[in-house]
Amino acid sequence: MKSPRSISVAVLAASACATASLSFVPDGLSQPNKAGNGTVPPDLQVIDDVLEALQVMQESYFQPWLGTWPTSIDWTAAVMGSHISGALQSLSQLLASLRSSEPRDYQVKENLVATYFTQLVGYYFGQDAFAIRNEAFDDILWVVLGWLDTIQFIDLHTALHYQAGGSQTGIASNQQIPRMLVNQSWHGNLWMSAFAHRARIFWELANKGWDEKLCGGGMTWNPRLEPYKNAITNELFISASIAMYLYFPGDDNASPFADDTTAGMENETPTTTGWKPHDSRYLDAAMRTYAWLKRSGYNNPLSNNTRCDVPNGMLYTYNQGVILSGQLGLFKVTGNTSYLFDGHRLIQDVIAATGYDIKTNRPVDDISSLPPGRIPYWHGLGRAGILEDVCDVRGDCSQDSHTFKGIYFHHLTAFCAPLELVSDLAPAIEERAFRQVKEAHTQACKTYVGWIRHNAMAALLTRDAEGKFGMWWTVGLLNLTMDTLDIQEGDLGPEDPTAVDYRNGDVPDDPRWGNPGKALIPPNNGLREEGGQKPLIKRSNVDWDPNNRGRGRTVETQGGGLAVLRALWEISRHGRS
Ligand SMILES: *[C@@H]1O[C@H](CO)[C@@H](O)[C@H](O)[C@H]1NC(C)=O
Ligand SMILES: *[C@@H]1O[C@H](CO)[C@@H](O)[C@H](O)[C@H]1NC(C)=O
Ligand SMILES: *[C@@H]1O[C@H](CO)[C@@H](O)[C@H](O)[C@H]1NC(C)=O
Ligand SMILES: *[C@@H]1O[C@H](CO)[C@@H](O)[C@H](O)[C@H]1NC(C)=O
Ligand SMILES: *[C@@H]1O[C@H](CO)[C@@H](O)[C@H](O)[C@H]1NC(C)=O
Repeated sequence: MKSPRSISVAVLAASACATASLSFVPDGLSQPNKAGNGTVPPDLQVIDDVLEALQVMQESYFQPWLGTWPTSIDWTAAVMGSHISGALQSLSQLLASLRSSEPRDYQVKENLVATYFTQLVGYYFGQDAFAIRNEAFDDILWVVLGWLDTIQFIDLHTALHYQAGGSQTGIASNQQIPRMLVNQSWHGNLWMSAFAHRARIFWELANKGWDEKLCGGGMTWNPRLEPYKNAITNELFISASIAMYLYFPGDDNASPFADDTTAGMENETPTTTGWKPHDSRYLDAAMRTYAWLKRSGYNNPLSNNTRCDVPNGMLYTYNQGVILSGQLGLFKVTGNTSYLFDGHRLIQDVIAATGYDIKTNRPVDDISSLPPGRIPYWHGLGRAGILEDVCDVRGDCSQDSHTFKGIYFHHLTAFCAPLELVSDLAPAIEERAFRQVKEAHTQACKTYVGWIRHNAMAALLTRDAEGKFGMWWTVGLLNLTMDTLDIQEGDLGPEDPTAVDYRNGDVPDDPRWGNPGKALIPPNNGLREEGGQKPLIKRSNVDWDPNNRGRGRTVETQGGGLAVLRALWEISRHGRS
């Protein structure tokens, strides 16, 4: 069994990119704003809300006998796994801070962690790995990220509670007990090799999506929609590759995926002695893809892109998030602050595009004087300071879109984690310069807490009597019902003629979406079938709650509520130190 791998901070002398005035926030915000509220101690109510969102998610939507959330689809289930792993990381840290010698407390804590961890183990078998293997490259990469999130939880929980030679129950120091109880690693480590194997196999499948023939590089989205390259697949490949570099613990299982079920059988002929952790091919993939994405102009969907045909100006919230955990990982191993600058600029642009001003720490529009039923002004990615997808107001979000805001906040939480370099991987960086970068990063993340809280509070107000979160969080702030809801032309802002909402609607018959005669997916309807989304539940139209329209409340919207609450808990907590 592996011993826990510890991560320490590099504090050696050498070059560093920091300057005395380093700041990641706009001018006038280099100090945390007074109204920023990042210095307010975290509200313990928030962690209660996190745990309640988690409990509702698992009790309402997870089926132990199937080892999955049966209403999810393959990729959304992988994301739900990431949310559970993230929540377990928060829970483990919380329990470590509540140390107590009461044996009864220990039972309660162990039971709480085991409840959710065993569900993840069940999901390892419930995950339809064979089907996902034949899906699009983004579907494949969510699987990689999901198991790497679980691996990070196992490492963290083992380090906090089960370090070799120590035990919080005092058993290890008791000479009377049998030797087998001493120095027992946390049982979750038993599953490490399985999770690592699946992450590696799926990363290798995804790696086949890298293509140099078109657009000068980049990941294709789907082998059956050849010329189309989208931001999400490339962001995922960056974040999954750097996470492989950082957290993949190695894999000795040479079994090819198709023979996964026969792993360990006699006729298996291993072709290699194993895959090592911290392989530079993962780092190379992350850096190469990052450089390509930056060149390709996805950061401004309306700019003319000379490398790829025609950009699709459609904005989705998750596209603004997945790259963030990749940027943090790239900083951790390179010490290059440019990754952090890019990440903070993106976060601040997103906050502004929801109609929120981090300098005054409030939404830019006064919504108290809105006529009944009217909705606030659209700023590009939200309104009234709340993150929205375009489909939220219309109430016709697909199962894909139901998952997007939760993904955004999951990766924001990862980005705003306390900064560390990985000493044995990162080039040496001077201690004082590193401390400046760390401080600037913490200060910048603090300025986001007010906005995160604003979103979390709105999301909480969409819960129904069973504690289930809705999709359209803004509604939590508004006095409206289906009777009064008054959507007018222009509520979604000026139409962008390049925008194709391919995640919620149909794909036009247009060469961007497939080489004529080559694309296997027919335009106008193919994607829905391809996505295999679960049929829409028809709901009564006398229902007063706009969040009951369309798909209604789902495991995916529950994951969104969990993720925004966890972002508030984690980021306000780190801001204190
Ligand atoms: C910070 O937030 C708390 C709780 O939401 C609120 O009571 C307080 O007035 C806020 N402080 C400032 C300076 O905005
Ligand atoms: C447990 O671990 C400690 C520290 O590594 C070591 O000194 C001790 O011998 C171990 N005990 C047993 C029974 O293996
Ligand atoms: C992009 O190119 C087209 C045609 O070449 C031009 O009409 C348009 O103004 C350009 N847009 C931008 C944002 O440069
Ligand atoms: C830092 O990363 C950026 C890419 O974001 C790159 O352009 C730059 O050359 C790197 N700087 C150093 C010193 O490696
Ligand atoms: C909410 O809207 C209704 C009309 O739809 C109105 O009667 C009521 O006074 C409003 N409540 C508030 C608090 O504005």
